[in-house]
Amino acid sequence: MSENLSIHNFCIIAHVDHGKSTLADRMLEVTHTVEGRRMKEQLLDSMELEQERGITIKLQPVKMEWKDAVLNLIDTPGHVDFQYEVSRSLQAVEGAVLLVDATQGIQAQTIANLYLALEQNLTIVPVLNKIDLPAAAPKIVRAELVSLLGCEPDGILAVSAKTGEGVPELLDAIAERIPSPQAFVGSGAARLDARLRALIFDSYYDDYKGVVAYVRAVDGRLRRGDALQFMGTGAQDKAIEVGVFTPEFLPTEALTAGEIGYVATGLKDVKEARVGDTITSAQPGAAASEPLPGFRIVQPKVFAGLFPAAGDQYHQLRDSLGKLQLSDSSLTVQPEQNEALGQGFRCGFLGILHLDIVQERLRREWGINLVVTVPSVRYRVRLRGGQERAVHTPAEWPDPGKIETVLEQYVQAELLTPAAHMGAVFEVMKQHEGELQGQELLGDERLLLQFTLPLRELVVDLNDQLKSVSAGYASLSYGLGEWRAADVVKLTVLVNRVPQEALSTIVPRQQAEAAGRRLVEKLKKVLPRQLFAVPLQAAVGGTVVARETLPAMRKDVTGHLYGGDFSRKRKLLEKQKKGKKRLAESASIEIPPTIFLDLFRR
Ligand code: GTP
Repeated sequence: MSENLSIHNFCIIAHVDHGKSTLADRMLEVTHTVEGRRMKEQLLDSMELEQERGITIKLQPVKMEWKDAVLNLIDTPGHVDFQYEVSRSLQAVEGAVLLVDATQGIQAQTIANLYLALEQNLTIVPVLNKIDLPAAAPKIVRAELVSLLGCEPDGILAVSAKTGEGVPELLDAIAERIPSPQAFVGSGAARLDARLRALIFDSYYDDYKGVVAYVRAVDGRLRRGDALQFMGTGAQDKAIEVGVFTPEFLPTEALTAGEIGYVATGLKDVKEARVGDTITSAQPGAAASEPLPGFRIVQPKVFAGLFPAAGDQYHQLRDSLGKLQLSDSSLTVQPEQNEALGQGFRCGFLGILHLDIVQERLRREWGINLVVTVPSVRYRVRLRGGQERAVHTPAEWPDPGKIETVLEQYVQAELLTPAAHMGAVFEVMKQHEGELQGQELLGDERLLLQFTLPLRELVVDLNDQLKSVSAGYASLSYGLGEWRAADVVKLTVLVNRVPQEALSTIVPRQQAEAAGRRLVEKLKKVLPRQLFAVPLQAAVGGTVVARETLPAMRKDVTGHLYGGDFSRKRKLLEKQKKGKKRLAESASIEIPPTIFLDLFRR
């Protein structure tokens, strides 16, 4: 650690687009960590995908010096899919800058993350951003922050991350208000000599260095060359390199309690160095007895089949998914075979955004064109006889006669909406089985609503619908809740009386008929016609709940006859009809994979 400098570790909690990356850039500039000239190439979020979509998936941590303080900034991903990762990042710091766009006001996700920060007892520094914009409404947003935090209006800072106005004052406030790590305060110094415990708040795989873990040293020292043990996963390895972020990797001899940095381990799989795990010493007698609290292995919540649109890309898909898994421990991959789509994979994701990111990366970085099946959630199906099974594909759904009960996961959602759109928002939530749990006014114009609803309703297009009925203003975030009984059934689609697993879905019993009708109608539009008429059916158990007919393609078998002989013409038509019937009875209809794109487009 730099001599005589006090350390302050913090993160920035902000909604997408409220200016987190811009503020981080300005801080680097104002503290001369990175000179302005180099800023462009130094942008903290640099992945191509991130820049195009304007979302930060990950921000590089950075160590800055400001007057007589060291300020360590680490990232919290802004999106709800990564809530567990957010909570571990928050555990690694003592304070959070709560950054709110003064033209937009607070968003639901910000509130959810703020609650997580308060649970960790972090010091909150509230900040209004974009005060240079004419549309900024600092008074209104300040009032919202006061009612949310119960803080003094004067304690709320105002900055423009774009022009830099107010940024030096913000850096002062971070150094003044956010406490130093315990190891640097009074009797806390004992922590420096305690047995090593370092919290992993992020990790990724590097082709040269192996797994690199981003850590907060909590107790003791992590030195280069130390033998390490990962307490949650049991993995062991050596600290090949230890260092801090400038924001480039800068190797150092050691990280001491209170500091933030990285350790390159030589491990080959991020699953061995998971976010939230505790690193301690693997030396006999030097290991900590208790890991730091809060470690868990996050389970995927949303599942979808990924199939190559062109069959010859299967091996490429397998290899690239393997590569993605190297640095994404929450992505699960399982081979899946499907009669319509061929060979592919059933993958598990943390949420819809996670799915989108993976899909998009496969397309961009590996040029793979994908067919993605309808995302589904996990159900716990209890069978007669007491057995329980986790099911997340329609194909695995047990025979209805064998099912005793089905359980599904609920979520607790927080929703923020301008009061003017309340009616429309309630209507959408009702359609998605939302139950109102509470509401309060935030400032003068907005409502904070709490709902519970089934996770399955959230993974479809709830968020898009809320945005569209509220002119983009309503925002939603959620946490997982309890498991409850679910009245859901498998909706099987039959094409020419043959069940098509790839088209089947799991739906609430009440909606089965409507969903079935929608599906067969759509199918009729996108399926290519055959020489004969094809029945398209949707069924629950053995009962058909919706039916359409795909008309036959008309082939002119009488065209070569000139005029006159009507009986001959009729004979030919009769013959065609019989032929079609025979064909229809024996035909298995090939379903072109491309129709899935049209059928299930979100
Ligand atoms: P994610 O990367 O999605 O988390 O967004 P972010 O919070 O990092 O937002 P980002 O820094 O990318 O800023 C979003 C947009 O707001 C960009 O177009 C910025 O140029 C703009 N912006 C950020 N801060 C300010 C500000 O203080 N004033 C003005 N006028 N624009 C700003």
